[in-house]
Amino acid sequence: MYSKILGTGSYTPETVRTNADLEKMVETSDEWIVERTGIKERRIAGADETAATMAYKASLKALEAANLTANDLDLIIVGTSTGSYAFPSVACELQKMLGTTGQGAFDLSAACTGFNYALTVANSFIQAGNAKKVLIVGSDIMSRTCDPTDRTTIILFGDGAGACILGASEEPGVYSANVKADGSHSELLKLPTIDRNNPESSYLYMKGNEVFRIAVNTLSSLVVNTIEENGFQKSDLKWLVPHQANLRIIAATAKKLGLPMEQVIVNLDKYGNTSGASVGIALDEGIRSGKIKRGDLILLESFGGGLTSASALIKY
Ligand code: ACO
Repeated sequence: MYSKILGTGSYTPETVRTNADLEKMVETSDEWIVERTGIKERRIAGADETAATMAYKASLKALEAANLTANDLDLIIVGTSTGSYAFPSVACELQKMLGTTGQGAFDLSAACTGFNYALTVANSFIQAGNAKKVLIVGSDIMSRTCDPTDRTTIILFGDGAGACILGASEEPGVYSANVKADGSHSELLKLPTIDRNNPESSYLYMKGNEVFRIAVNTLSSLVVNTIEENGFQKSDLKWLVPHQANLRIIAATAKKLGLPMEQVIVNLDKYGNTSGASVGIALDEGIRSGKIKRGDLILLESFGGGLTSASALIKY
């Protein structure tokens, strides 16, 4: 039994934060940000928006694309680090908004690899015969986690949600979906939960250049191994759908695969790093733009806090 993509959807908030806006907030420049990251703009969630409301909007589009209703779902998994509550989970809030009940619903904490991690769990449920249709969503409001006076983090992150419905299939589909982690580097990238004695001490911390170095090394071997372990050649790959953290990391990964940048889905110039949502949004935009077509071999990869990494090789 395999799983395959039945439909995708995404949502990004209306408000745009440009590099020019950031020049007014911290000591930085459009030139520095574009050169070091590739990011030009990000979307910022409105005061009334949450990880759950964004997940809901992305999920409605995925359900429509899959021609399904929420009652058809056997499981809901949300990759997020920015839910409003420890409980209820974003997944349970989402279930309520979708007007369905009964199926399992849970959140999964894997930072920027949230979408890939959720996809891996969903694929395993389906392969084991424990679910036929699973909604996976990555949804994060990272803009609220950054110190607005810290130029090393506030320039990087934006808000959004990406959704995908995986369904049981006799043919692939998902050839492989894998997760990895290296907790020995956990101190390099941290988002504290609220210290109830000191609520101000909860901003995101990242040792950017060290994370950068590990990300490039980890992803370079991860993507090549994923292709080879599944008996494919690099030249079989049609599209790379990478985590959108830094254009230099994406370019290094594509180079390792011998893939021209024209075959890489890149949207970080518009959205920055949306953490758990990033691969889901890129996948949806790649499909809706008509770039990714049915039958194409695509590789999803991500890297983030934990440190976690993940990949998925899929025939769309
Ligand atoms: N504007 C101007 N200068 C800046 C800015 C800024 N916004 N930010 C940092 N600088 C300065 C630094 O202070 C430093 O100055 P110094 O040399 O005088 O000390 C200089 O620029 C170089 O800083 P680096 O941190 O070494 O710059 P680097 O080229 O590594 O780029 C970046 C920083 C963009 C953060 C990069 O390291 C990166 O993308 N890292 C990986 C991020 C990532 O993939 N994270 C994982 C996912 S996130 C998650 O899981 C939630």
